Amino acid sequence: MEVIILPDPGRIGSLAADAITALIARKPDAVLGLATGSSPLAVYDELVSRYEAGQISFRQARGFTLDEYVGLPADHPERYRNVIDTAFAARVDFAPGAVRGPDGLADDIPAACAAYEAAIRDAGGVDLQILGIGTDGHIAFNEPGSSLASRTRIKTLTRQTRVDNARFFGGDLDQVPTHCLTQGLGTIMEARHLILIAMGRSKAEAVHHLVEGAVSAMWPATVLQMHPHVTVLLDDAAAQRLQLVDYYRETYRAKPAWQGI
Ligand code: F6R
Repeated sequence: MEVIILPDPGRIGSLAADAITALIARKPDAVLGLATGSSPLAVYDELVSRYEAGQISFRQARGFTLDEYVGLPADHPERYRNVIDTAFAARVDFAPGAVRGPDGLADDIPAACAAYEAAIRDAGGVDLQILGIGTDGHIAFNEPGSSLASRTRIKTLTRQTRVDNARFFGGDLDQVPTHCLTQGLGTIMEARHLILIAMGRSKAEAVHHLVEGAVSAMWPATVLQMHPHVTVLLDDAAAQRLQLVDYYRETYRAKPAWQGI
């Protein structure tokens, strides 16, 4: 696991965008794993700027979102399928239907989850997955207690996650759905490269567990310690509880430029 601490969201966004730009240059039909939420917004903004400058095209690429609320109407602005369009997908040149998400309105939820797993598999798997992390250590919506081998399925959101996300629903907790469909930890672990972004002090405890804690379903993101290619991009506030913070900074300063992330 590589830990990189950068001073601002712009630097974080541009480093992650460099990795995506390099991937698309060598594999134009790459499969991207797209997180919603606030953490990846700087990455998406940077990719949109590069697209507008003619430096990158997503015409042949495909995208899979991580998760979806259950039961939000198709036109609800906080439905993650709409959120990803607003934040990124509709601002660049993905082909129609190239970005998919789990179907939170399906009548048959288990069948929809199985179909989502099959779609990811049929696309050849995710080449590069962007992740955020919840204050309770979730990735996607794999809340504490999630099986480390889990696949796409329905989950109940913790109260903490609903409180955290109430800001997207006018601050009204009652408007935040109680259930979601989410890629499992086992699903996410099959992506070839994972880039997790965390910013702000509220993420510091979860980041401490993710990077330096024991692998445990109580802090689901810790499963990433078992993945061979994970890049964790942090701002100073999110890094403030890391024991080896000086070592991570020195390592990155001394890293040969050719290595990339
Ligand atoms: C969203 C997702 C969640 C978020 C996490 C952090 O698709 O998968 O795990 O990444 O809740 O959210 P933000 O970035 O809004 O702090």
